[in-house]
Amino acid sequence: MQIVTLGREIHGGKDAEEGEPASNKSFFNTVGLLRLMRIALTGTPGTGKSSVGDILRNRGWDAVEVSAIAREAGLLKEVDQRRGSYEIDIDELQEAVDSRYHRKEIVLVGHLAHLVSNDLCIVLRCRPKLLRSRLAERGWPEAKVDENVEAEALDAILVEAMEQDGAVFEIDTSDMDSSAVAEVVQDIVAGKTEKYRPGHIDWSSEVLDWY
Ligand SMILES: Nc1ncnc2c1ncn2[C@@H]1O[C@H](COP(=O)(O)OP(=O)(O)OP(=O)(O)O)[C@@H](O)[C@H]1O
Ligand SMILES: [Mg+2]
Repeated sequence: MQIVTLGREIHGGKDAEEGEPASNKSFFNTVGLLRLMRIALTGTPGTGKSSVGDILRNRGWDAVEVSAIAREAGLLKEVDQRRGSYEIDIDELQEAVDSRYHRKEIVLVGHLAHLVSNDLCIVLRCRPKLLRSRLAERGWPEAKVDENVEAEALDAILVEAMEQDGAVFEIDTSDMDSSAVAEVVQDIVAGKTEKYRPGHIDWSSEVLDWY
């Protein structure tokens, strides 16, 4: 059983391995006629997932917030006092998603979406400095802002996503508005993935400025 918190999760840092995962190499080649069943739209809090999800929904996609599924399924249990967030059992979340969206085309939106089995995972990225200002604007405590900015700087969600099955791509959203990001999501789904391979985004120069 894996328990993580929903809302303000910190993701442990681990360097991404070099090279493209086998799943990315094979995915679009083996699926001649692209029929995606489940897309995960994930990223550190504040990277713009819900904003992009809203746009996709307006364009007719079935985009659903993971938090809404968890709430509806009664999975939001104990509150992690330190982080001010709910703990959630990922196995239970997986079951809740599977039972509601079995063989349905869906975009799962949220920072835990990549932990639910999916066919294609898109990680939204944002320059740590910009992310910091967005999270601070939410009035979050400094420690919580720091945790999430550090997680972004360390590629934490990207690394977690790449540890799952399925193809993974990442989008640097820092200089794009949400509708441009939604366009890129559609490009990736259509197979235009070349510019979005995992590993092309590197926040290390910005991190070096912290010291
Ligand atoms: N591409 C963008 N350019 C500028 N501002 C953006 C962009 N995307 C999102 N924002 C702004 O950043 C904030 C966070 O966006 P949003 O709520 O979509 O992020 P999120 O990834 O869903 O966060 P959370 O994981 O906490 O739900 C909002 O104020 C939103 O208006
Ligand atoms: Mg959101």
